[in-house]
Amino acid sequence: MAESITITDNRTGSSIEIPIVGGGVDAAAWRKLLPGIWFHDPGLATTAVTTSAVAEINGETGILRYRGYPIEQLAEHSTFPEVAHLLIYGELPTQNQLDEWVDLITHHTFIHENFRKRIYDAFHYDAHPMGLLTSGVAGLSTFYPEAKDIFDPDNRREQIVRLVAKMPTLAAAAYRFSRGLPFIFPDNAHDYPTRFLKMMFDVGGEYEPDEALVRAMRVLFILHADHGQNCSTTATRVVGSSHADPYTAIAAGCAALYGPLHGGANEAVINMLTEIGSYDEVDSFIASVKRGAHRLMGFGHRVYKQYDPRAVIIKKAAHDVFAVIGKNPLLDIALKLEEVALADDYFVSRRLYPNVDFYSGLIYQSLGFPTNMFTVLFAIGRTPGWLAHWNEMIEQNSRIYRPRQVYVGSERRDYVPMADR
Ligand code: SDX
Repeated sequence: MAESITITDNRTGSSIEIPIVGGGVDAAAWRKLLPGIWFHDPGLATTAVTTSAVAEINGETGILRYRGYPIEQLAEHSTFPEVAHLLIYGELPTQNQLDEWVDLITHHTFIHENFRKRIYDAFHYDAHPMGLLTSGVAGLSTFYPEAKDIFDPDNRREQIVRLVAKMPTLAAAAYRFSRGLPFIFPDNAHDYPTRFLKMMFDVGGEYEPDEALVRAMRVLFILHADHGQNCSTTATRVVGSSHADPYTAIAAGCAALYGPLHGGANEAVINMLTEIGSYDEVDSFIASVKRGAHRLMGFGHRVYKQYDPRAVIIKKAAHDVFAVIGKNPLLDIALKLEEVALADDYFVSRRLYPNVDFYSGLIYQSLGFPTNMFTVLFAIGRTPGWLAHWNEMIEQNSRIYRPRQVYVGSERRDYVPMADR
């Protein structure tokens, strides 16, 4: 049987056969058959906006691979800078390539003093760190005007290195600002997660993060690094497709990630668990979700129709962290929620399972991060993924994103003078 579909326009009887290639069909073919007729696809739920080689996700089997490598193996054996290199450049680096890459990142961690001293001063002390980070990333574009030269690969690499290197610095600065604490300069003697933890929590040079906490941060950054055409990566691609500079495109990714349906879900999960308050209230909360009064945050996914493979790894990492620093008291509520939901047809019939955000917040909270920093941590992890897709889109010479619409508004009508309204 031919790997193809045939579309017939019943108004004219004319048909067109379109081959199925790699799980997709080319939309350009049916534009000829159906000029002016658009496929209405809210949320792009069944539309492939691009081809991509960065990450492979199989929602039915619960598979996530970065450039072909299973995330289980990368979480076990790799480092975040190595995974960033893999995502952006497509291959695991040789030792020399990794040494050069780590050296570049390590020596681009500072932000311009004008920026550091004043960027956040314009905000209220209690400004949400994601608002600070999104503004900070967009503002960085003004310090590197040469970044607009997006078709020079060497220039792209320089901006990519800067963004991977500076996100933790901007993130930690947002936290320190919100706490009224002095800014901590990046200490380049440490690896990526350790350097970040020290910028976050050091007071007087005495803070040395426990190895188990550094390991947890490494795994969490790796697991958040990419996830195909998710909402924030699509936002990055959309802005990048207009040939805006990479800082502006990544700021768009930060903005999209901020929403509670996406990267803001990890913060929403902790708020939900706190609101539930006790193990005994789980059943009544589940009932309220089934009534539509609440969403079970950290559950459900557009692609995964079974357990998110990242949630499996994070759940184990949580136990490892709690073995060192004590169990998060909200863990029992989370475990009970999962147990009750996975035995309830409302969730099973809708194929709603824990996603990456369900357990990650428990670890972040136990590591000492305030809940309003959780999405910032997600953004640090996702930056290499956003950059990999931005880079891929430039190399694909992608067309500007400009979807169509099905217009359902008013027909033509004449202006009505105020006296006649
Ligand atoms: C991330 O796309 C990615 O890859 C994202 C991400 C990444 O790495 O980039 O994986 C990270 O964003 C994970 C998702 C984090 N968000 C949440 O945990 C928020 C809670 N989940 C949802 O709101 C929802 O599941 C979404 C947003 C994740 C997916 O939404 P969809 O695909 O549009 O699904 P839907 O809203 O159409 O839901 C289908 C049905 C509906 O019920 P019915 O109308 O059929 O009766 O399932 C219900 C929904 O009401 N439903 C939920 C639910 N999620 C879906 N009901 C209760 N609780 C939920 N969490």
